[in-house]
Amino acid sequence: MTILATGGAGYIGSHACVSLLESGYDVVAVDDLSNSSAEALRRVEKITGRELKFYEADVCDRAALEKIFREQKIDGVIHFAGMKAVGESVQKPLEYYRNNLDATITILEVMRQFGCKAIVFSSSATVYGSENEYPYREDMPKGTCSNPYGWTKSMSEQILCDAAKADSELSVVLLRYFNPIGAHESGLIGEDPKGIPNNLMPYITQVAVGKRKELTVFGGDYDTPDGTCRRDYIHVMDLAEGHVKAIKYAMEHAGAEVFNLGTGVPYSVLEIIKAFEDASGIKIPYRIGARREGDLPEFWADASKAGNILGWHTRRSLADMCRDSWNWQKNNPKGYEE
Ligand code: NAD
Ligand code: WQD
Repeated sequence: MTILATGGAGYIGSHACVSLLESGYDVVAVDDLSNSSAEALRRVEKITGRELKFYEADVCDRAALEKIFREQKIDGVIHFAGMKAVGESVQKPLEYYRNNLDATITILEVMRQFGCKAIVFSSSATVYGSENEYPYREDMPKGTCSNPYGWTKSMSEQILCDAAKADSELSVVLLRYFNPIGAHESGLIGEDPKGIPNNLMPYITQVAVGKRKELTVFGGDYDTPDGTCRRDYIHVMDLAEGHVKAIKYAMEHAGAEVFNLGTGVPYSVLEIIKAFEDASGIKIPYRIGARREGDLPEFWADASKAGNILGWHTRRSLADMCRDSWNWQKNNPKGYEE
């Protein structure tokens, strides 16, 4: 079985490629390297001792995608490719809608053309919006997103579900990720953000490695146990393993299905700092700053559906997440650049 991983060179895609290869799938990765490095895929091969095929291409480029489907026999697609910076999406909404929606539509069109019937999509907990109670369950209605990035996920979900409704053989699995952190246990691949990190864990690891002076905690006056926001952090390798279960499910069931991929347990920003300090032995200087616009006080997953239907359970602890994030950062202080 051959899986096409769009955005396969990225943070989550590269870790999923490891899990797929280790589970016996052949992998073809396509990525335009707009937010990643081909070195990640060389390291995936090193970790697994297996080869994968790589195409450097924009998945909105229909001719380039057709070429891949002509040259490879693709049995299923995992669609990771997309732009993901929340703040940037507010500044550049048209670029986000163009890239993320065009990518989803083009992939579906080319899959239809070549008779490929299974797709797993990287969605996000952000589609629950601000209206729902936590823990979020898949049967809740989607909510109002606070930024264009979130809307591209919500709209892509709709497009994928409509495509599945129109083609009774098509299978769509929507995976709503919570907050992925951590890295492969080898320390060879991990998250390599360009510029100043937007997300908490890469910011912490860059403070730990001496690249940034201190962390600003966005808000200390929320109505939460310690006043800082709480999120459902999930180890990226647990998340990666969820994709192996999801693509298998997609190949065996037609129709559209949605699964939360989270642990079901929230941690606050201060708890993350403490857990990181314990795992690394390094003190993280921080100060409490203003709230960040658009942040919700807290949310986490009800992850029971993925457990019951996919047989997927998270296995790694917060300590593992911190240890592996740190192991990656300290072994690769400049990320893939070297
Ligand atoms: P990432 O930026 O590391 O990976 C995305 C990859 O897609 C990058 O390698 C980028 O170069 C590539 N890409 C973007 N547009 C492309 C295009 N038009 N053609 C080809 N390649 C393209 O991000 P990630 O964290 O690995 O996220 C993967 C997916 O999961 C994204 O769709 C993201 O929105 C989604 N997601 C991420 C998180 C998170 O916190 N990291 C949470 C929820 C959902
Ligand atoms: C986590 C917590 C911040 C940085 C984002 C997207 C979401 C999904 C996952 C893609 C929050 C706090 C952060 C910092 C801080 N991505 N924080 N100082 O915002 O939960 O989710 O990534 O789909 O759509 O919105 O993740 O890592 O940015 O923040 O205090 O320098 O850390 O306020 O409480 P978030 P995050």
